[in-house]
Amino acid sequence: IMPSLVGSEMCIRDSFYVVADFNDVVSRRKFLQGSFALGSGAFIAATIGPAKATSFLSGFNGISFNPVPANGKDTITLPKGFSWHKVASWGDPLWSGVDDFDQITRGTGESQEGSFGDNNDGMSLFDIEGKSILAVNNEYCNRKIIYGNRASGLPETSDDVRKGIASHGVSIFEIEKKLGKWKIKKDSLYNRKITGDTKIALDGPAAGFYLMKTDEDLTGKVAKGTFNNCGNGRTPWGTYLACEENFHGYFSSPSNPSASIPPEQARYGLKTKDKGYNWVMNQDRFDLVKNPNEVNRHGYITEIDPSKPQSMPRKHTAMGRFKHENCEVSISKNGQVVAYMGDDERGEHLYKFVSKGKYKKGASSNYDLLTEGELFVAVFNDDGTGKWINLKESGMSEPEIAIFTRLAATKVGATTMDRPEWVAVNPKKVEAYCALTNNKNRGVKDNQPINAVNPRENNPYGQIVRWTPSNSDHASVDFKWDLFVMAGNPETAEGLYKGSENINKDNMFNSPDGIAFDSKGNLWIQTDGKYSNSGKFAGMGNNQMLCANPRTGEISRFLVGPKECEITGITWSSDKKTMFVGVQHPGEKNPDSCHFPDGGNSVPRSTVIAITRNNGRAIG
Ligand code: FEO
Ligand code: CA
Ligand code: CA
Repeated sequence: IMPSLVGSEMCIRDSFYVVADFNDVVSRRKFLQGSFALGSGAFIAATIGPAKATSFLSGFNGISFNPVPANGKDTITLPKGFSWHKVASWGDPLWSGVDDFDQITRGTGESQEGSFGDNNDGMSLFDIEGKSILAVNNEYCNRKIIYGNRASGLPETSDDVRKGIASHGVSIFEIEKKLGKWKIKKDSLYNRKITGDTKIALDGPAAGFYLMKTDEDLTGKVAKGTFNNCGNGRTPWGTYLACEENFHGYFSSPSNPSASIPPEQARYGLKTKDKGYNWVMNQDRFDLVKNPNEVNRHGYITEIDPSKPQSMPRKHTAMGRFKHENCEVSISKNGQVVAYMGDDERGEHLYKFVSKGKYKKGASSNYDLLTEGELFVAVFNDDGTGKWINLKESGMSEPEIAIFTRLAATKVGATTMDRPEWVAVNPKKVEAYCALTNNKNRGVKDNQPINAVNPRENNPYGQIVRWTPSNSDHASVDFKWDLFVMAGNPETAEGLYKGSENINKDNMFNSPDGIAFDSKGNLWIQTDGKYSNSGKFAGMGNNQMLCANPRTGEISRFLVGPKECEITGITWSSDKKTMFVGVQHPGEKNPDSCHFPDGGNSVPRSTVIAITRNNGRAIG
């Protein structure tokens, strides 16, 4: 039942890819005892002979380094020949009138409104009239740390909530290099904070729909606030895309704790009980019973023009409402925008938006490209083929598809995935990758059966799927796919849990999350996984960043982060000599055990770091 893939037409899609059959690699007997048995089709391609991760690499595109061993240190570890420095940490002021970060109080509502937000995630650097403008998502706040001045570790006063709301959103600021180090340029005209309270226009099919109208906004066209922005995107016309992920966690119903949540909202995880942000203490709009439509105005892609600090951001409902991870934009053969988007929850889906209009270099009409188009969801067949299904086939109306996108995806039979995180499009080849981070429900819940693209029960490690659209066009409806890598532990695990052939004792990791290509075509993989460094995860150390060669499948560890962090967010200076990387939630569980980045006895703070090569050459 496991026909060899080697030599099959499906897998050898170009001569560069050497394909191995998992049958040759690991015993699948135990695995196949379950309900899943493969059909006559293909299974996993993608892996190559063992990567030589311990040796000095020369095969990567424009970058070579000695891979770093896993570790549990409370700092950044890089290969020899590379250096890092801090650019911006949570609480660093963006304007000169704002108080510096206070280690004791951890800031106030007012100081946070003028400072870099918490938990930096996706980011992009823009070159605007020769200035370097960094736009960074501030996904959420570490309550234990930001409210570490409170005995409860939670917001206790109205000002605490104000601080929390201002710690979320998007921070935009100019950075400049002084004495070889990038720093925030305070008071730049480009500096801007977009928070959970900023006015944001709604456009697309749901704008003005009755389910979008609230007491505060009778038009249903002006939302307030963007929050829990995870990964990001950037457009060829120079705008930034923030992607709203776990928006549900800010809503509750203190006015009626026993209220029942309707199924279309329960699908998004909404609960009556507050999760600990307590924004409802300050604003009734976060009460699901008092303002049932407010939550429909969150869960979208938000477009921001960093070159116009006064411009109003826009939420594009045409791109769907779900727990957005990132938004990877490419242009189809005929000029349409194709935006790939993961919905990061166990058993949710992978989407793509295809614009109605066409991109024209320099045209002002580009700014409207994301307001109108069609939304598709992926079906992965076990034979290595796949299809994008138009959500119109759900029979739901356009506004309903925009607001209850997940329901439409289920109606059309989308494949439930192992938590789709970032998508990355290869700039050197017409193909795309998505990190499927992990999924404890795989093979456990009825709607998440084991299949070829999500092949491991309980999946603790994650995998990266790659697809090639037909006709070399990202707008195509059909594609072929394989698994680029299955993370795993070749030292302690058995069978498929060992990981694919390009995983070895020197490069093993778990839970790929952020993925992005550099300009030379290297694929960077950032992890948000278990950092216990024991049991299933022994030998993996802290969360990390690895560099993969998409042509050969080789993967090597480039960076190890400090304690209890995740590594997320990556962008480059325009000369490519600096790579900016995000360190999120260091010390999230045991804040007293972590003092990144300031050392001593300091409070751990999420931080954007800059990485350079000591020889001054480009890094990606
Ligand atoms: Fe915010 Fe899916 O990670
Ligand atoms: Ca993420
Ligand atoms: Ca994650």
